[in-house]
Amino acid sequence: MLDLFLFSGNAHPELASGIAAYLHTPLRKRVLDRFADGEVRVEIGENVRGRDCFVIQPTCGTAEATVNDNLMELLTMVDALRRASARRVTAVVPYFGYARQDRKDTPRVPLTAKLVANLLTRAGIDRLLTMDLHAGQIQGYFDIPVDNLLPRPLFLRELGNFDSKELVIVAPDAGSAKINRSYADRLRSGFAIVDKSRHSTDVSKALTLIGKVKDRHCFIIDDIISTGGTMVNAARLLVDRGAKSVRAAVTHGVFAGRAYQKLADSVFSEFIVTDTIPLRPGTPGIIRTISVAKLIGEAIRRTHYDLSISVLFI
Ligand code: R5P
Repeated sequence: MLDLFLFSGNAHPELASGIAAYLHTPLRKRVLDRFADGEVRVEIGENVRGRDCFVIQPTCGTAEATVNDNLMELLTMVDALRRASARRVTAVVPYFGYARQDRKDTPRVPLTAKLVANLLTRAGIDRLLTMDLHAGQIQGYFDIPVDNLLPRPLFLRELGNFDSKELVIVAPDAGSAKINRSYADRLRSGFAIVDKSRHSTDVSKALTLIGKVKDRHCFIIDDIISTGGTMVNAARLLVDRGAKSVRAAVTHGVFAGRAYQKLADSVFSEFIVTDTIPLRPGTPGIIRTISVAKLIGEAIRRTHYDLSISVLFI
């Protein structure tokens, strides 16, 4: 992979190192820090003319930087690579931030998912490789190829440890019913849906349950946990309806506000989250991380060699 050049932003160096290890290729040199006034300063440390460049950067907030800082780092690195004559630039964005504002459902609100798509495209990316977009349709906000990986192979491996007759896959809201049903169909397990109402962007309430969970082990699968309200309320409802145990598997652990505390106080017996976003300090013991490094690494390898990535979508 002589001309595959991997670069990492500052948002998630551990994940970038895991991807580099899988690909047996180094992370390339770059200066990535701040000017005295806080502006992002980038300098690519190697000749990238004619190279196939991949920039790894989830656009999440971290303990060290805001969502906006990490997004700006990504845009600035892409700009630098483009101007240094890279042959192709792929943004590898394990968590695509600003995705939840993806439709104009009330007057005078922005479409931030589209805005970020415009920014990335104008900065000069040729492709986007991402994971579990909040809404699959966001792919249509780009007029370049987008590969939207799913954590399903990783989660199915976890779920395979349960007896399917005792297992119920639970969608925490109507929006996630289709993807959750795909798990239940593959596992031949039970399936249930929690009916959730959202009072504001960050406040939700679990209302009613469709499906049987009594004396079964429940697994709630979702794309994002942010404040934790959706998950904690859904788990409470399942226990109230007689579930034997409640676990969760979530792709993107945003863990905003009091999410850690809410989970620590919750009825969950285990909470699995992938490492698309680095965990903040103070993670409660029930959280277990599984890595997407190999999955993303394989998608990068296949992209580089112009191979199909559909085998990754089991
Ligand atoms: C909503 O549609 C998403 O799939 C998640 O359920 C939501 O973003 C979780 O937010 P919170 O943890 O703040 O309830």
